[in-house]
This record gives sequence, C-alpha cells and structure tokens, in this order.
Amino acid sequence: MPTGFTTTLEGRTELRVPAGSLTSRAPETFPVFFNPAARLNRDVSVAVVAATRPRDFLDVLAGIGARGVRVAKEAGAETAVTMVDFNRRAVPYASRNARRNGVAGRCEVVHDEANRYLYSRFRRDEKFDAVDVDPFGSPAPYLQAALVASAEGGTLSFTATDAAVLCGVYPAVSVRRYGSRTPRSEFIHETAVRVLVAFAVAMGGINDIGVSPLLAHSTLHYFRVYLKVTRGGKAADASRGLLGYVTQCDACYFRFAGDGPLSNCPKCDARVRSAGPLWTGNLCSRKVVTQAGEFCAASGWKDSSETLLSLVGIDDFPPLSYSLERVASRLRVPSSPVERVMARLRSAGFRCMKQPYEYLSVKTDAGYGDVEKAVREASRAPV
Ligand SMILES: C[S@@+](CC[C@H](N)C(=O)[O-])C[C@H]1O[C@@H](n2cnc3c(N)ncnc32)[C@H](O)[C@@H]1O
Ligand SMILES: [Zn+2]
Repeated sequence: MPTGFTTTLEGRTELRVPAGSLTSRAPETFPVFFNPAARLNRDVSVAVVAATRPRDFLDVLAGIGARGVRVAKEAGAETAVTMVDFNRRAVPYASRNARRNGVAGRCEVVHDEANRYLYSRFRRDEKFDAVDVDPFGSPAPYLQAALVASAEGGTLSFTATDAAVLCGVYPAVSVRRYGSRTPRSEFIHETAVRVLVAFAVAMGGINDIGVSPLLAHSTLHYFRVYLKVTRGGKAADASRGLLGYVTQCDACYFRFAGDGPLSNCPKCDARVRSAGPLWTGNLCSRKVVTQAGEFCAASGWKDSSETLLSLVGIDDFPPLSYSLERVASRLRVPSSPVERVMARLRSAGFRCMKQPYEYLSVKTDAGYGDVEKAVREASRAPV
C-alpha cells in the first residue's frame, strides 16, 4: 500500500482510506475521496439492503467502495455489488477493499462515468434491484439515468448535500435545479426532502416510471431519500397525483398544505409564498423503516437506529410542523422541553410527535393557535 493511506474500521468492514481523510475537517477529493462523517449514511444503506434483500446493488458513485463493500459484507444478503467511479485512482482501492473483506467474489468494480454506465443498462435484464447515487452536491444530474437503470420494484437511494439550495438560501438555484420553490419556513428540512422526492417523480415521469418513498432522513448537512421504483404510466401518474404545495404565513403563522400554491393567506389575507411543487404523500414504509432500524440497533449503531425509528408515525401528520422555540420567542415566554408541550397538546385532544427533520419541533394535527396555547401553558408549568 502506498504511504498516505491507513486502515479504518467502519461497521464490520475494514477500509483502506487516505490517512488525511480521518483527520482533516473537510475530506479532500484528491487522490481519492472518503468521508468518515458519512458513516451513518452508509449504516442506513446497509440496513435497508438487509431489510429489502436486493439481488444486486449498484453504487454508481463509489469512491473507494466504502458503501458498496459494506453492503456486500454486512447486509447479510447474498447481494451482488457493482461499484462505478470515473476517478481512475479510486477503482483499485474499491477492488482492494472488496478483497480485504473477503467479498471480491460478489463485487465488480468499473471505471466509468456514472450517467454513461447507467444509460448503458438499457436491457431489461441489465437493471439493478438497488441503485445508489451518492454525489458531491446535488443528485439531480443522475436521477433520470438512475431510474432508467432501476429494476421493477427496486430501490433508488440518493444523497443531496446541496442543503443551502434546498433550504431556501438560493431560491433561483432551487427553481433552476429542482423546478421547485423553497421559501424559508419552520419546516424547511422536511420541505427539502419533499422537493427531492418531487424531482424524482418528475424524472421518473419522463420514462413512465413511478416512485414512492420508503424512507428519507435529514442528517448533519445532507438529505437521504430511498424510493421504491414502479414501472408504467399508471404508477408515474399516481406519483404525480401526490405533488402539491405547503405554505407558512409569516404574518399570522398559520400553515397550509394543498394541491396548489397560494398567493394570499386563507386566514389573514397577507401575501404568502408557497413551497413546491413537492411530494405530499407518505415518506416512509413502516415495515422497511422498522426492520432497518432494528438491524441498526442489533448492530450497535445507536444513532443510525434512532434516526430511523424517529421516522415511524410521520405519515400520520400533515407535511409541516411547528418550531417550539420560534413559537415561544414570538410569545416572549421561555421555551419548554418538547415532551412537555406535547403532553399539553395531547391533553387538549390533539395528536403529535417529535418532528424528526427539524430542531425542537412538533408535528401535530393542531392549528397554530392550539400550539401557541400549549407552549404558553407549558412555559408556566412547574419544572
Ligand atoms: C461523495 S463521493 C462517493 C462516496 C461513496 N459513495 C461513499 O459512500 O463513501 C463521490 C464519488 O463520485 C465520483 N464521481 C463524481 N462524478 C462522477 C461521475 N460523473 N461519474 C462517475 N463518478 C463520479 C467521485 O470520483 C467520488 O469518488
Ligand atoms: Zn396569515
């Protein structure tokens, strides 16, 4: 092995990685890329493969093969793994990492450009049961090709690290890149996830492919989405039928979800800007999330299992939420623990859960006025 490389253990997989990647704050892309901070991201990939048991898994932006080799070694399925990267120097590292972990027999490493490889799989028997897209930045340039290379009933997963764009910091870029508006709100991370799904719906629609989310998480500064792929115009239409808009009024703070964008608040008539088009349907398969979460827990990956299990129940609520800190600050009362506010909401007859995508927030069927009341009461309760 050349100097400048070292060995690290991630999950149960031993990886040869650039030594600097373990110590520098932002991992370098040259000569090859490895980001130890993406461990949870890869844990969840392994767990989803364990839950869904695909025959084959394509890691189309593979780097040194951290994800692909972990899937081959740890998912407990007999999944065949293909790893693709256009960096000539990454390819031998992915091969060596597969050999080092005793899974070279089930791993193929290909030196190619991602879209060229994906579009080359045009025959039905060349599609993959699972395709993963893990780019630097936006997944947008790869999603149409990744859907085309996905088998019927398969899983497409992708990362988006262009969080600033998806969270409304660069509105014009969001419209150009994803075709959706993302005005800032108290539920901007959930909005970002839903915009990503809507973009995949649009990309699938081009080729008569429908998608529906299996799970999606927002961790550190990135988003991860897992979609089930269903071929056919009917499935594509069904996915398209679940696109809509969400709106937060910055004058009265009420929020709304619906089929179309709003220009005025239905409650106070102030001018508003809606986010969307975005996915308003379910974000999780309870079965996949629970099985993958249990796999992580059994593997001792506490943070990964908590990330997954925090999603259970999300589809029982509208696609928006309330920041308890913001509500308390508007009311000029001290902010209270989320559990205490949720207890107040429940005793007033509302359903609620911790919002997994936002900081100190709740999802509930209560309206803004009811949330205000619960926050005010919770702030007065003895600790
Ligand atoms: C974020 S890294 C992937 C990390 C890897 N999936 C993991 O979990 O460790 C992105 C990789 O994509 C490769 N890459 C970027 N653009 C590509 C393209 N158009 N075709 C193929 N590989 C590409 C880069 O060389 C890099 O190794
Ligand atoms: Zn209003």
